[in-house]
Amino acid sequence: MREREFSVDKVTISRDADLLQIERIETMLHGTYWAKDRPDEVIRKSIENSMCYGAYEDGIQIGFARVVTDHATFFYLCDVVVDKTHRGRGIGKALLGAIVDDDELELLLGMLVTVDAQGLYERYRLACDGRTVMVRRSHRHR
Ligand SMILES: CC(C)(COP(=O)(O)OP(=O)(O)OC[C@H]1O[C@@H](n2cnc3c(N)ncnc32)[C@H](O)[C@@H]1OP(=O)(O)O)[C@@H](O)C(=O)NCCC(=O)NCCS
Repeated sequence: MREREFSVDKVTISRDADLLQIERIETMLHGTYWAKDRPDEVIRKSIENSMCYGAYEDGIQIGFARVVTDHATFFYLCDVVVDKTHRGRGIGKALLGAIVDDDELELLLGMLVTVDAQGLYERYRLACDGRTVMVRRSHRHR
């Protein structure tokens, strides 16, 4: 998956790293409960070392999701965020659709952590386990 037209709202979903708008991603992430205090240099390093998906409208990045993977067995989906002014338009679902349809991830075991968006992810074959997954949080992830 490189680029996909999400025709309903003229929104493009892309995994092209050259398109990423770092400052807009930082603003979106600083508006979330989990990354509000994440330093910009940590955000930049995480982007550099991940497979990142962007949602774009009229050349402006309005959505972001990050996948950490070994490209062989496993991926971890995180930092899924849509710009506040564009929420409720289906962009979050478009991002997740692009990720689960991505050929590079299709055969891998996927995982994510969420406090309240289980209903969103369950539509994309990410089932809530509640039994076998164990999470180690560092002081940064409290
Ligand atoms: C969660 C988020 C990415 C969804 O993006 P969005 O573009 O607003 O969502 P969509 O318009 O594609 O619709 C999402 C669907 O999932 C549902 N949903 C379930 N849990 C949800 C949640 N916690 N937040 C938003 N939507 C949720 C919505 O009700 C909606 O269902 P519908 O299709 O029946 O209307 C966005 O609200 C956001 O950035 N929130 C703040 C960051 C966040 O919480 N990210 C998820 C971290 S795990």
